[in-house]
Order: sequence, then C-alpha cells, then structure tokens
Amino acid sequence: MIFLLYCCKMYSGICLDFPDLSGTGFSEMEHTAKVVSHGPSGLLQSDELYDYVLTTSVYPREAEILKELRDAIANHPQSYMATAPDGGQFMALLLKLLNAKKTIEVGVFTGYSLLLTALTIPHDGKIIAIDVDREAYEIGLPFIKKANVEHKVNFVESQGLPVLDKLLENQENESSFDFAFVDADRANLKNYHERLLRLVRVGGVIMYDNTLWGGTVTLADLSAVHPMRQFAWKDTIEFNKMIAGDPRVDISQVALGDGMTICRRIC
Ligand SMILES: C[S@@+](CC[C@H](N)C(=O)[O-])C[C@H]1O[C@@H](n2cnc3c(N)ncnc32)[C@H](O)[C@@H]1O
Repeated sequence: MIFLLYCCKMYSGICLDFPDLSGTGFSEMEHTAKVVSHGPSGLLQSDELYDYVLTTSVYPREAEILKELRDAIANHPQSYMATAPDGGQFMALLLKLLNAKKTIEVGVFTGYSLLLTALTIPHDGKIIAIDVDREAYEIGLPFIKKANVEHKVNFVESQGLPVLDKLLENQENESSFDFAFVDADRANLKNYHERLLRLVRVGGVIMYDNTLWGGTVTLADLSAVHPMRQFAWKDTIEFNKMIAGDPRVDISQVALGDGMTICRRIC
C-alpha cells in the first residue's frame, strides 16, 4: 500500500514522455527504489508521517468514487502516474477557495484529478481536459459517469499546445478560466505557462505538478541524476527558475507529492 502511494507521489506526471529504459538493467520496481533518495514518504521526513497525513486528513475525506477509481487502476502498469490523493485534496481546496467554475487540465491519464475537479466545481461548471491518450481516459470514464459529472467534462484527445492555441483564437476565451492544472509533458511547461497566463483570469490559479522532480532539482549536474529522471531534469529546473522570476504571478512551491507549484495570475 505504502509502496503504491510512493509510486503515485513520486512519478505522477511522467507518462508518455517517460523514457524507455529497457536494456538499462533496471526493472520498474528498482527504478522506484533507486531514482530518488526519498523513501515512500516522498518529500516528507518519514513513511510514518506520510501515512499519518493520509490516514488522518486525506482518506477519511476522500470521495468514495475517487477511492473506487484508485482501486480500479491499482494494477494498471502506469498507476503511479495518477495524482496522489494528498495533492488532490489540496487541489480541491484551491478550487473551492477560488469558486472555480471553468477549468483546464492538461494531462488526464485515467482521470483522478479530472474526476476530483468535476466533483468539486458546481453543477454548471466546465472542464476542458486534454490528453493524447484516449484509452487511459476511457478507463476512468465509467467513474465519471457513475458520479453524474460527465456533463462537466469536455475531453479533447490531442497534444496540449494546439488546443490552448485554438482556444486563444477566440478572444472570448481570454481571461475566462478560473483554474488550470498542468500534469503532462515537461518540455512544454514554459509554453503552457505563456498560453495559460492569457486563458486564466487575473486572480485565477495555474497549478503545476512534479516541480521538485523526485528531489533531483538539487543535484548539481545531469550525470548525478538517475536515468529515469534525466529526461526532464533540466526542463524542470529551468521552469522553476523562470516561474520564480515571473512578475506576472504570485507563487508558492508546495512540497506535496512530487512538488507542486501554485501560480496566481497578478496582471
Ligand atoms: C501524469 S499523467 C496525468 C495524471 C492525471 N492528472 C491523473 O490524476 O491521473 C500525464 C498525462 O499526460 C499526457 N500527456 C503527455 N504528453 C502530453 C502532451 N504533449 N499533450 C497532452 N497530454 C500529454 C499523458 O498521456 C498522460 O496521460
């Protein structure tokens, strides 16, 4: 159980652009053990502390349908990619604080964060959910239907950038979204940011997952990074630097899951 949670926490956001490590001599279990120095607790001090957070604050409040989805994908070979329940709980709180009604998600996978968003926003809320992988989305779709929130979801099977560009062709979409969640390819983080800053309203929030990249952002050079984490290491560090210096947003780097960066649009 703890191991699975660890995988969820440490690897969410890797997915399709995950490198093929066949031939490197590492099994996936071995990667999980070796990639980062942290244990199952992720970025927390100990496994016990992480377990405490989950059992005290997260699981007792997690919607039953979200738990059902988690259980259903537990044996999926890439179940580690789903947003971790503690990160999800934080996201739901932000959505509520913002009174978010219109949102965008880039990186859906089997839909944990999507279902959570759909459950949280009001009945007439809308989510544009973009992913290149319709098959994964369809694994989670029965849960979205069972929760009676399918009417809020507009799933678009596509690369993220062209969809955001298309939205920006219609001026009415500018500054019209309350919230965006980016949990997809790392190489495009800066490109997503530029587009989302035009789509999300002033005061709205853009949330980026995996911004501590398994703790590897502190390593001095690429050779010190495990192969599993090398492919987006530089992109993540550059993105973090860029965001820290971006005067258009208020930010907070949150040590939840694999690291989440919250940006509030200022102007
Ligand atoms: C970490 S998973 C998303 C997890 C999801 N938020 C959840 O809670 O289950 C990342 C997803 O990003 C998608 N993805 C990767 N590159 C993409 C791109 N360029 N455009 C759109 N989706 C992309 C993958 O297909 C994968 O499903």
